[in-house]
Amino acid sequence: MIRSSTRAKREHMKKILSVIMLVIVTFAFASSALAADTAKGAKVFTANCAACHLGGRNVIVATKTLKKDALEKNNINSLAAIMTQVQNGKNAMPAFKSRLNDQQIEDVATYVLEQAEKDWS
Ligand code: HEC
Repeated sequence: MIRSSTRAKREHMKKILSVIMLVIVTFAFASSALAADTAKGAKVFTANCAACHLGGRNVIVATKTLKKDALEKNNINSLAAIMTQVQNGKNAMPAFKSRLNDQQIEDVATYVLEQAEKDWS
């Protein structure tokens, strides 16, 4: 009787531990898969954006740079706003939703915001 209740407790502990492990693994995986990756964002930028936005400038519309003051003035100073513009394009800027996936768009938008904070230096 004592032995079986000890065993039952042990089984119970095992279950709790495996649930805890599962939660940890799930979170670790989810956060690494979802977190925007600015190193990847930099590569996306070089391949897709730098032709028009090298160094955060804008070779087509000089006032619409990717610098912090311009992003603020033009109301594009958030991850969501940059992602929307990259997805759909705007005027002379092409849309990228058929060329880049959501993760790449989030990565490049994160990179742009990060560079804007550092004034692209
Ligand atoms: C062919 C040139 C071109 C390419 C390539 C391009 N853009 Fe643009 N981008 C523009 C133009 C032109 C504008 C100004 C749009 C407008 O009229 O508001 C702009 C505006 C922006 C703005 C808003 C800037 C502001 O101050 O209003 C962001 C952010 C931006 N681009 C990000 C990107 C990113 C990220 C990429 C790459 C995925 C990219 N662009 C690729 C031409 C380009």
